Amino acid sequence: MSENTNKLSTDPYKGVRDFYPEDQSAENYIFNIWRKTCESFGYLEYNASPLEPSELYKAKSGEEIVNEQTYSFLDRGGREVTLRPEMTPTVARMIAGRKRELSMPVRWFSIPNMFRYERPQRGRLREHFQLNCDIFGLDSIYADIEIIRLAYQIMINFGAKESDFEVRLSNRTLLNKTLADIGLSAEQSHDFQKLLDRKKKIDNFNDEAERICGRKIEWKLEADEEMELLISELKKAGISNVKFDDTIVRGFDYYTGTVFEIYDTSPQNSRALFGGGRYDELLSLFGNDKVSAIGFGMGDVTARDFLETREILPKYTSSTKVYIGTFSKDCVEDADTLAKILRSKNVNVAIDYTGRKIVDQIKKADKEKINFFIAIGEQEMNTKTYNVKNLFTGEENICSLAEIEEFAERIFSNL
Ligand code: HAM
Repeated sequence: MSENTNKLSTDPYKGVRDFYPEDQSAENYIFNIWRKTCESFGYLEYNASPLEPSELYKAKSGEEIVNEQTYSFLDRGGREVTLRPEMTPTVARMIAGRKRELSMPVRWFSIPNMFRYERPQRGRLREHFQLNCDIFGLDSIYADIEIIRLAYQIMINFGAKESDFEVRLSNRTLLNKTLADIGLSAEQSHDFQKLLDRKKKIDNFNDEAERICGRKIEWKLEADEEMELLISELKKAGISNVKFDDTIVRGFDYYTGTVFEIYDTSPQNSRALFGGGRYDELLSLFGNDKVSAIGFGMGDVTARDFLETREILPKYTSSTKVYIGTFSKDCVEDADTLAKILRSKNVNVAIDYTGRKIVDQIKKADKEKINFFIAIGEQEMNTKTYNVKNLFTGEENICSLAEIEEFAERIFSNL
């Protein structure tokens, strides 16, 4: 056997990502905007394990997800287990489990990872992280308005302009009613809605529609009063990029009312960035009580593609703010002391212990996008003054220890 055949691949498993520090930093940026925006609307963070009993998904998630896209296996005790492909059944289970103790309405968010066995492609991977925001127990248009406002605000907080994206709305009740009115059976209506969900991706919509309905149908969905009211309330709230779209259905079977998707308006990235809807019946799976619910899920993959195509993802810089270089082993103690002082001021500091040339130490700090470099040599130890070099601007300042401390409070820590 040749030597190479023994070596393990350094590639991750197909369709999942490694997060090297620069990638993780972009993830953290996205998660921070998500978290801050949700908290600003009074949503509380929850979490759960990615392992769930498979039966949780069999009831309602929609056939495609369960039959073709789940990672399911038998555990050592013979139980059927699934890695969650979405969070909604989990959060429904959690809310139903504590229904009596929870004071409704409940506003919750989470940023879980989830797993879908999909063909990896732009915007679609086998593991992604997804912000989930949901409001439970508020059966009123205010819940629909709030959830869409929150989705909109996340986009604005990312630095998006209204012209960069669009909120497209429809309603499952309206869809069901219209399809029943033109004479489709419940099964035909279901299949037709699945087809409608794929309309933008296929080119034989009319043939397929005829096949499902057994005849050519005149298909026209018009916004009803409730939809008009929702749109006008959203416009009143300052959201002008919202419109009714009769092709919005969403894949999951559990949606019952408003369904919506946020679309990127760039032709390069023209797909749904995220979406959600009302699912007032899902919690009844766990008991007799009805709990109304509406929410959405926003994935990190599509979010990052959006930020990159719009060039609004902040440039990477290291979370380490100061790199202390050392001329020799003799300087290590002083370097450690300075680091300790800076850390006590909430400044992130790393020390170079390699003993290599100072220019190489600076090169490393520069390559890693660390903002400041302070070299410690004999002179610095004797005079207790330090040259603080700003590697981003090239500016240098000779500072006393007191000045560095003051500098730390002013500059380093709030970068
Ligand atoms: P979903 O439309 O399946 O909805 O997913 C929501 C978002 O998650 C998508 O728009 C996309 O941003 C992201 N996403 C989904 N699948 C993938 C994938 N394979 N790779 C990368 N990103 C992906 C739901 O999951 C609903 N449970 C959302 C919800 C919450 N509805 C009400 N509350």
